[in-house]
Amino acid sequence: MGKPEASDQPGPHVPVLLAEVLDALAPLPGARILDGTFGAGGYSRAILAAGASVIAIDRDPSVLPHADRLRAEFPDRFAFSSGTFSDLDRLAEAPVDGVVLDIGVSSMQIDQADRGFSFMNDGPLDMRMTPEGVSAADLVNTLDEADLADLLYLFGEERKSRRIAHGIAAARATRPFQSTTELARFIERSIGRKPGDAHPATRSFQALRIAVNGELDQLVEGLFAAERLLAEGGRLVVVTFHSLEDRIVKRFFDPEKGAPTQSRHLPQLKTEPLRWEPVRKARKPSAEEVARNPRSRSSTIRSAVRTAVPARATNYEGLGVPRVRGAA
Ligand SMILES: C[S@@+](CC[C@H](N)C(=O)[O-])C[C@H]1O[C@@H](n2cnc3c(N)ncnc32)[C@H](O)[C@@H]1O
Repeated sequence: MGKPEASDQPGPHVPVLLAEVLDALAPLPGARILDGTFGAGGYSRAILAAGASVIAIDRDPSVLPHADRLRAEFPDRFAFSSGTFSDLDRLAEAPVDGVVLDIGVSSMQIDQADRGFSFMNDGPLDMRMTPEGVSAADLVNTLDEADLADLLYLFGEERKSRRIAHGIAAARATRPFQSTTELARFIERSIGRKPGDAHPATRSFQALRIAVNGELDQLVEGLFAAERLLAEGGRLVVVTFHSLEDRIVKRFFDPEKGAPTQSRHLPQLKTEPLRWEPVRKARKPSAEEVARNPRSRSSTIRSAVRTAVPARATNYEGLGVPRVRGAA
């Protein structure tokens, strides 16, 4: 019997859409690929197994043991930097042949109750991916009621945001919110729960996590940084987990989609030269993958190939990034 592939080894985080990521990235032996969201190294390991080199980045120091393991196995082809992928063009030397971003939280982060990401596990209301910065408790206990409602609505697409924010503002006056389950139960009491629906705190927790970690800004900056870093013909592959992020990626690859509709009474807008061509259609995980790994359910993959047209400076226009007062 042959030796199992390195990528077959079990890990604490089951990589999502791995076959689709490898297909889109097409890592050849000798290629240099940047993995901007290392996590437990599932993608990195598979890319290394294909013969390419990997430069990995993660902002969460708790992934270091996983990085150490890969460094020991692939000393000549694997390098790791602690940092954010918004800085990926400063953390790696240009040009690279591929960039992959698997946006969001890892299973390890969700499963560690003391990180405060999950309303299912009791822990401090934290949600920071790095040890510094404001926590979810800081936002819940100090944001102006209207700003908190905007945050829940814009980052969580929570339609009952005003009711939740109003209740929180009244309750925290006597006792600040400290724990995940305390907030989750409070939201459930405020807006009720329908059988069969997701937990009523799901959207609010997503919103707080996005705000605490500046996730939408990270994504925009990371995409433009990848545009600067990739060689002509290089591939950018992005896996997202909710519609706000997916919309940003879609519009980034195809800016004309985000542009206002042109009026025939106005002079024609200049059409931008294409920085990404071809752009593949979005894909979702197979039913088999969702059955095997329910956390993959909401994932979407988009990918595109870099052309020779010079990179743009970072520009938020047309990407549909919501802004919330008081949140990063
Ligand atoms: C979904 S997990 C990645 C899992 C990985 N693809 C694997 O197969 O193990 C996302 C990881 O990205 C990291 N992360 C999230 N936002 C980041 C950012 N802006 N910069 C760097 N790392 C980030 C998180 O700390 C987490 O470890």
